[in-house]
This record gives sequence, structure tokens and C-alpha cells, in this order.
Amino acid sequence: MDYRAVLEEVAATARSAAGVGRVAEYIPALAAADPTAFGFAVADLGGQGGVDGVGDWEAPFSIQSVSKVFTLALVLAADGEGLWARVGKEPSGSPFNSLAQLERDRGVPRNPFVNAGALVVTDRLQDLTGDASSALRDFLRAESGDPRVDFDRGIAASELRHGHRNAALAHLLADHDRLANRVRTVLHHYYLQCSITMNCRTLALAARFLARHGLRADGTRLLTRSEAKRVNAVMLVGGTYDEAGEFAHRVGLPAKSGVGGGILAVVPGRCTLCAWGPALDPHGNSTAALAALDAFTTLTGWSVF
Ligand code: DON
Repeated sequence: MDYRAVLEEVAATARSAAGVGRVAEYIPALAAADPTAFGFAVADLGGQGGVDGVGDWEAPFSIQSVSKVFTLALVLAADGEGLWARVGKEPSGSPFNSLAQLERDRGVPRNPFVNAGALVVTDRLQDLTGDASSALRDFLRAESGDPRVDFDRGIAASELRHGHRNAALAHLLADHDRLANRVRTVLHHYYLQCSITMNCRTLALAARFLARHGLRADGTRLLTRSEAKRVNAVMLVGGTYDEAGEFAHRVGLPAKSGVGGGILAVVPGRCTLCAWGPALDPHGNSTAALAALDAFTTLTGWSVF
């Protein structure tokens, strides 16, 4: 399909939002990003060539919490339903790094995308693979077809130095006996997974298994149809944190955001989308990426509703 006209219109709309908001300053290594940058990619379900984009769609950025979709998929692929005893599937309605909510819920995180839930998923992936962050990186390389996908160890080190709240969440989980590995091991792999550097093009390509109902780029099955549906469902209710309602209202697609400014979205059966702009709204979601996805679904009429 030729997306050119749609992409140009999406870019024109999103550029007026690019720069509105603030770049993530709590991770010093991310604070240097140009707040006015903007990129958008759409990947069709055909071969590796079926991807197009606009703006800075091949500029690298830190995927941050977008990584949580992929770690969840890898754990579900190995464990099936077992994970849901340790992590919920409800909207959080709270900031992504809330300690109060985790304490109230006795160490069972609301969903796999709040930080506490992602730490539990990474803990499990570490058990399954012996090297959670490398397993994720290798998967992303394979699905995107880009062997350059890698960690940014400077960003990971910066997060470790400044990540008192994540350390507190991990210790609270351990206090409730919810982690199998040591806190420092889980945090090490969590920060590395968040530091992975990709672009709109490679992220959209890597996520196509979610639009293909679980089938990987090489045609093998990662997730059952039902598991793929579940990942998409949790993205819809929790992928953009306490803004998930507003996001569903405006965009109407399963999506996952990260404080690097990326938002990945899935049109099941049709395509994947990745939008990027470093300036964030107060919920930690990119203003330009949200505006772009809003424009795309409005122009095409594609949503899950
Ligand atoms: O745990 C953190 O603070 C970051 N590494 C990831 C947070 C993030 O991307 C939340 N998303 N919007």
C-alpha cells in the first residue's frame, strides 16, 4: 500500500505538537535529546521491504519502556499463562513508577508495563534465559533484520546511578518475595533493556508479530493467537499508563510508550506503527507521537473499534 500522502499529512499535524512538553530529565543521558525531532514509520505485514516513514524515522532513540512489550512476549512464549499469577492485567490509573500502588497491592503489580510489573517480567526472563537483556536484544535484531540494534551502556549506567525509585520498587518486590533473582541482577537487565537504541523503522518492523497474531518475521510462531491478543489487550489498557483512556479515545489502538519519546502501536491484521518525538506530556507519553497516531487513525479510519 502507498502511504505517502497519509504520512505527509501525519507529519504536518505532528510537527505542530513536536516540542510541546518536556524531554525526560530524570535520566540525564536522555535530557540532551532535541525536543523538536519527529519521526513516524508504518510497517506492512509483507516482507522486510514493506516499511515507509517520514521525518526523522531512521534517527536512533532510546526505546525505554517500549522494551516491556517484547520482554512480555518472550516470557509468555515460554511460560504461557503462568505469568498472570505474578502480574495483573488491569489499568494502573497511577504513574508508571508508583511505590504506593505496589505496596497496597502486596507486591503484585497492576500490569506488566508499570515499572514494577516490568521488573517481575525481566526477573522471569532472566530465569528462562540466563541473560534477559541479551535475549531481548537478539530477538529485536532478528525481527527488525538490523544487526546494529544494541544497548546504550551510557544510558543504562546513568539510570543505575539515578534510579533510586526503581531500586525501591525492586526491593519492595523482593520484600514481598516476588523476585527469583537478586535485586541488582534484575535492575542490571532492566536498565540494559530500556537502553536499547532503535528507530521508528526498526521498532515498527520488530513488532509485526503482534499484528500477525503471533507469527515472527521468519514465519515461525512466537505466540499463540490468543497470547498475541492478550499482549495487545494489555497494551490497550496499560501501554500508555494513566493516560490509557485518553489514548484509546484519541487513537483506538494497542500501544506502548517510552520516556525516550517513542510510541509503538499495532493495527491487528494490517500493520504496525512507530511514532517518535522526545518531548513528553505529564504522563510520560510523547506529545508529537500521540498527535501523529491520532492523525493516522483519523485519516485511515483504522482502529480496533
Ligand atoms: O524505569 C524507568 O524509569 C525508565 N527506564 C523507563 C520508563 C519509561 O519509559 C516509562 N514510560 N513511559
